[in-house]
Amino acid sequence: MSTPVANPANVFPRTADIPEAMRQPYYADGARYLIDGKVEAWTGPCQEVTSPLCVDDGAGPAPTKLGHYPLMTAEKAMEALEAACEAYGRGCGEWPTMSVGDRIRHLESFIPRMQAVRDEVVRLLMWEIGKTLPDSRKEFDRTVDYIRDTIQALKELDRTSSRLAVEQGFIAQIRRSPLGVVLCMGPQNYPLNETFTTLIPALIMGNTVIFKPPKYGVLLHAPLLRAFAASFPPGVVNTIYGEGATVVGPIVQSGRIDVLAFIGSAKVASLLKHQHPRPNRLRCVFGLEAKNAAVVLPDADLDLAMKECLLGALSFNGQRCTAIKIIFVHRSLADQFVARLAEGVEALRVGMPWEDGVSITPLAEKGKPQWFKELADEAVAAGARLVNRGGGTIDHTLFYPAVLYPAALNTRICQIEQFGPVTPILPYDDEQEVIDWVKASPFGQQASLFGSDPHRLSRLIDSLVNQVCRVNINSQCQRGPDTFPFVGRKDSAENTLSVSDALRVFSIRSLVAAKSTPANQQVISTIVTGRHSKFLSTDFLF
Ligand code: G3H
Repeated sequence: MSTPVANPANVFPRTADIPEAMRQPYYADGARYLIDGKVEAWTGPCQEVTSPLCVDDGAGPAPTKLGHYPLMTAEKAMEALEAACEAYGRGCGEWPTMSVGDRIRHLESFIPRMQAVRDEVVRLLMWEIGKTLPDSRKEFDRTVDYIRDTIQALKELDRTSSRLAVEQGFIAQIRRSPLGVVLCMGPQNYPLNETFTTLIPALIMGNTVIFKPPKYGVLLHAPLLRAFAASFPPGVVNTIYGEGATVVGPIVQSGRIDVLAFIGSAKVASLLKHQHPRPNRLRCVFGLEAKNAAVVLPDADLDLAMKECLLGALSFNGQRCTAIKIIFVHRSLADQFVARLAEGVEALRVGMPWEDGVSITPLAEKGKPQWFKELADEAVAAGARLVNRGGGTIDHTLFYPAVLYPAALNTRICQIEQFGPVTPILPYDDEQEVIDWVKASPFGQQASLFGSDPHRLSRLIDSLVNQVCRVNINSQCQRGPDTFPFVGRKDSAENTLSVSDALRVFSIRSLVAAKSTPANQQVISTIVTGRHSKFLSTDFLF
């Protein structure tokens, strides 16, 4: 049974209490991989996966064993690279030379195959990373929508490229073509969605892909391997698993990766980028850390600000790169705001992901509750109060959210990305203090402003848009809608993702051009009308 944050209680169920449809039997199919179009069983060493969802069958809450996945060797990872390079064929393989329409048909055939394993993937999402049932379903469905939207965006892009340009005595056709072999690595908080927001555009633009699931959220990819194998030519999608240093290092060091799509820490991103022997040939697509600030202005609607900050700071236990990770509140309403936020946090329900109304769930990453406690204790030692009842309680894999006020700027909770349910609040007197903090921050993703005075809001907007890449007004920070640019400055990102931007990021413009002489007009006309070329073509995608 779930409990409110204010009253910590044992929420871990007995096996018999778990609804039948939510149970996760040991997943025996995790030790499989996809290389060169074949789904094979891995017989080497494996990593055991335990769920953060403990079960208490009398001897106290204990983590459940979920399954295992391959701890591949460097040699096996290089096989995946070889398959991806072979399928790309230096740009002459079947996939990179296939017409856009045919590539779309392959991706369309993947959608029903993916949907057929929805329940399996959703259940694994809950058990592997503790995401709530509604959020796990949302992650799956949002990913399917993303695939459909990508197909539409590509059709539009292709329609504008399916005409010849005539300029200054030249005839040309300008299209987007693939870049090569892409290594995709998604994060553990959105292991499906954020892996696919790079993998799908990379694929559809004609690149071949190797993807490595994150450390937590691996098994949920297994049900999709056969769907990939059945939908794409051999070598177009390949998977690797295991220790990053063993399986990713050698692939990047080989210099045969053309694009590195990585969502994780800036430290790992820099390390990988510098391992490539010719970084000038490597395109990087990074989504990295953030420390998004919420600023509650003196004329803010307190109810609205509280509701959005609660959601922004604590959805999925604060494990979102877009989460609100620090709150600045004007001193004139600080006490009121803190009291209301504390009340809101105390009412949040802690429990298992499938329970109605639950928002705080167990944390997948080992040692995280203890680390959050350390951050909160440090803030308290520096003068902050823990303002919500129950806050900071650790129960096995659970950490009850802690709100700290007034937090000191020189404590770690105000400086690093906590990526979890510890929220520092600081009072301010002058907006310039907040602007100075954002300017000095190493991060530059988003900010949220809560207020109603158009002049005050405008001043802040104009200062902040050059520090971060999205300023939200009276709304929490977030990535969606997926058609909006998702981007960051400084240590927060490299390159822009959105449904349409991603198509550009994973491709490069190539053109065929000729002086507009009668002879050239004739030859181009023959190629186009005879439909001899897939690139030099005016075919229109409906
Ligand atoms: O973890 C970072 C995600 O991109 C956040 O996406 O704002 O939709 O939760 P979201």
